[in-house]
Amino acid sequence: GAPVEVNVSKIEPGQLIRAEWRGKPVYVVRRTEEILSGLSAHDGQLKDPQSEVPQQPVYATNAYRSIKPEFLVALGVCTHLGCAPTYRKGDFDQEVEGVKDGFFCPCHGSKFDMAGRVFQSVPAPTNLMVPEHSFPTDDTLLIG
Ligand code: FES
Repeated sequence: GAPVEVNVSKIEPGQLIRAEWRGKPVYVVRRTEEILSGLSAHDGQLKDPQSEVPQQPVYATNAYRSIKPEFLVALGVCTHLGCAPTYRKGDFDQEVEGVKDGFFCPCHGSKFDMAGRVFQSVPAPTNLMVPEHSFPTDDTLLIG
């Protein structure tokens, strides 16, 4: 399929927008400094904190799982059985110590942080998939 272009300039801090690529939902989240600085606190609670390839491309294999730390680009497809996780900005389930933001899958309760990294003790086996993407300009995200 052809790459999909998304204008990221209008995404508010903390906001999630949805795109579609190859028939799959893609979540694009503008992460704030606060969100980014909170990510490392989850490392001890995650199945795959360092996130290996192929869950994201090599160029997004870093602490933020992204090209630009500000933008998370991930498939909105739970890695358990494919449901769409809900974005839980600021109200993430309090059962997981210290986690305030992330994604919650309503089907069987899998939880992911703001880098799409899966928590321990949930059914999803791996982090949310980060698709191939690039930023041809500051305002333009190209998925695929
Ligand atoms: Fe998401 Fe099962 S499909 S937890």
